[in-house]
Amino acid sequence: MIRFENVGLRYGMGPEILKDLSFSVEPQSFQFLTGPSGAGKTSLIRMLFMSLRPTRGLIKVFDRDISLIGKNELPELRRKIGVVFQDFRLLDHLTTYENVALPLRVIGREESDYRADVVELLKWVGLGERMHALPPVLSGGEKQRAAIARALITRPDVLLADEPTGNVDPPLAKRLLRLFMELNKLGTSVVIATHDIALLEQVDARRMVLADGRLEIFD
Ligand SMILES: Nc1ncnc2c1ncn2[C@@H]1O[C@H](COP(=O)(O)OP(=O)(O)OP(=O)(O)O)[C@@H](O)[C@H]1O
Ligand SMILES: [Mg+2]
Repeated sequence: MIRFENVGLRYGMGPEILKDLSFSVEPQSFQFLTGPSGAGKTSLIRMLFMSLRPTRGLIKVFDRDISLIGKNELPELRRKIGVVFQDFRLLDHLTTYENVALPLRVIGREESDYRADVVELLKWVGLGERMHALPPVLSGGEKQRAAIARALITRPDVLLADEPTGNVDPPLAKRLLRLFMELNKLGTSVVIATHDIALLEQVDARRMVLADGRLEIFD
């Protein structure tokens, strides 16, 4: 689904923060990406989402070499990838419902077609009562769930989530994890970046561990 071969990354003239990463994200797989703060988890998620280019190596997304993909082709490819950013990136002037519906609106879908799906998904993440609220009045955990719903509304083949439980209490973290696992059972590949040890201990999933720029994989 996604394949990295000898990928390296540096920012500007700085040191190489990621070195020789080689791995694949297989269809329907579930993996955690861990490592200390500053290890490069967010950078790796951004490369998986094709919003950051590696400084060396090969990245293939859905069998396409991303260095050969034109800017105009990117949005369509990205539509198969749902992403939950560490800082949510919700639009403050749109309601929770509108934020979640936005990926469908931008591809020209009619509201009458998707309205029921959006409402159902909002209920699924426990935001049924909050769908008309604007992000600034949502709690951290509510924003997190809104961002997760927005990532899922297009039914992506791959879900990338950067610290998706960073703002919630342990019971809610557990619920979100169950939600990701359910999604995985329905066929979506899931990559969760986290340094939440309690979360990691709840599932026997593949672990990708970043340390000192290197990636170690424990299947
Ligand atoms: N835009 C940038 N420009 C320059 N350096 C950056 C940039 N983004 C990240 N870095 C550096 O790259 C390294 C990895 O950062 P990254 O955000 O990927 O780590 P992380 O594992 O996600 O950390 P955290 O757990 O705190 O979220 C850090 O040393 C960081 O300072
Ligand atoms: Mg990060």
